[in-house]
Amino acid sequence: MVAEIISGKEIAESIRAELKDEIAKLKAEKNLTPGLGVILVGEDPASQVYVGQKSKGCEEVGIFEETIRMPEDTSEQTLLDKINELNNDPKFHGILVQLPLPKHIDEKKVINTISPEKDVDGFHPVNVGKLMIGEKAFLPCTPHGVQQMLIRSGNDPAGKHVVVVGRSNIVGKPMTNILLQKKDGANATVTICHTGTPDISKFTKEADIVIAAAGRPNTITADMVKDGVVVIDVGVNRVDAPETKRGFRLVGDVDFEAVKEKAKAISPVPGGVGPMTVTMLLVNTTESAKRTLG
Ligand code: GUN
Repeated sequence: MVAEIISGKEIAESIRAELKDEIAKLKAEKNLTPGLGVILVGEDPASQVYVGQKSKGCEEVGIFEETIRMPEDTSEQTLLDKINELNNDPKFHGILVQLPLPKHIDEKKVINTISPEKDVDGFHPVNVGKLMIGEKAFLPCTPHGVQQMLIRSGNDPAGKHVVVVGRSNIVGKPMTNILLQKKDGANATVTICHTGTPDISKFTKEADIVIAAAGRPNTITADMVKDGVVVIDVGVNRVDAPETKRGFRLVGDVDFEAVKEKAKAISPVPGGVGPMTVTMLLVNTTESAKRTLG
């Protein structure tokens, strides 16, 4: 079997087209423009790229966006004051503080300061808790995007055995919680494997769907999956490639070339989950704006 390629890029484009129409209607009929405030502290090159992508995505669909750049030596209190200012500013329906933060700033304190009603990253403990008990919450963008990729590629996880590899707070844990909800597009049997799992292949061999979010190349190899598996690769790893202009190549957590020979469907890196993450941020921001209509 040679796998169908699940293009996050194409799915993201169709969601953005839908959003663009929805936002145009919100503006015309409700006089409502969704707004996102992005805070970037310091000069981390990868963060600058991510923030640029978010800003571009907002512009594309018609979300008002402001990127607030603060110097590396910004005090924790100055950052918390800025967040509170955005919490109280009605033109912002979403607030995102780009991570990682400089070492002298307590990330937990920062996340806890963002109003849960504007926490479009879905990182605040109130949103994490709501997701866990099946209440309406902002879903973290990457796992929310993975769920959409499964649904929109015709691989509904309902009734399937999904194995998630990785237990981070940003991907693995919320992914598990999203897919086990008794809801449409979820309702899966979910197993979570991690660095403390002695033999991950014992579980992945039983999986109908594997979601790789371990942050290490070749975590999932062809011998670890069954024929007809569906694979979503969340990994983004830089590997040396001196022959390229940048000096590196991006690869996922999955041995793509070998696994695609066995899989029913597989997402690539790049062009897989990456474009979905920003798109789901745009979805969450629009959802937050709509909630102000009551
Ligand atoms: N840094 C890397 N990914 C993310 C993300 O999804 N949200 C935020 N705020 N920072 C990040």
